[in-house]
Amino acid sequence: MLKKCLFPVAGYGTRFLPATKAMPKEMLPLVNKPLVQYGVEEAIEAGLTEIGFVTGRGKRAIEDHFDTNFELEHQIAGTGKERYLDSVRKVIDSASFSYTRQGEMRGLGDAILQGQRLIGDEPFGVVLADDLCLNDELGVLGQMVQLFNQFRCSIVAVEEVPQDQIHKFGVIAGNEIKPGLFQVTDMVEKPAAEDAPSNMAIIGRYILTPDIFELIRETPPGKNGEVQITDALLTQAQRGCVLAYKFKGRRFDCGSVDGFIEATNHVYKTIYLPGGKG
Ligand code: G1P
Repeated sequence: MLKKCLFPVAGYGTRFLPATKAMPKEMLPLVNKPLVQYGVEEAIEAGLTEIGFVTGRGKRAIEDHFDTNFELEHQIAGTGKERYLDSVRKVIDSASFSYTRQGEMRGLGDAILQGQRLIGDEPFGVVLADDLCLNDELGVLGQMVQLFNQFRCSIVAVEEVPQDQIHKFGVIAGNEIKPGLFQVTDMVEKPAAEDAPSNMAIIGRYILTPDIFELIRETPPGKNGEVQITDALLTQAQRGCVLAYKFKGRRFDCGSVDGFIEATNHVYKTIYLPGGKG
């Protein structure tokens, strides 16, 4: 049974400076809710209620967000303002939260390896909160959990991206075993468009089997001198099986200013306003 989900959140968020100088980028609000809460809600919906954060310096606000604030709550108790806390209270009541630190920024593969302390020896989800994924029905991680229960191997979420975007992603090649589901045969981290094995880009949702930790340990630094999860997953695909799943729903790249604004407008129109402003 999948019950754990890892959130690597040690990154600096330089594209949003100076906003992210003293505040974690994951706490930037999409309208009235921090980015990371959308990801945690998606994990809880998928049944992954043991949330582990791989954090770094300056990320304390994330811990405080998923905790009670007695003073504030006492102050607004019994007033109309209390309902603004409903969504985060629900999250706090439905999940547990653990934290560990990535001492040095050595890449996503290394961040996930640091998370082994929180995960142990069981399969787990990974959410990169920068990628906001929305779907009217079951969320992307929930869709992947259903597939995992059927296939029992690592799964990455993919979407087709235009040629000029390919260099920003891990890219897969694979054999389609059923509509929208591929058995991975190749995987390259951030290739030049002309070297990419396809236009199918990995987005920030993974389900990993625990043998990935040993494979990460064996993986030398790759693109940009960092330990890449993409490289460890390629080894796993060559030795066994990794699936790539074209998810249902919409993804916003909230790690870029353009994507963040697009997501903000979308959330404002489709979630915030219809929900009665909060
Ligand atoms: C990471 C992964 C990359 C993946 C991307 C999805 O890159 O290394 O393979 O395509 O997330 O958002 P990052 O965007 O952290 O540089």
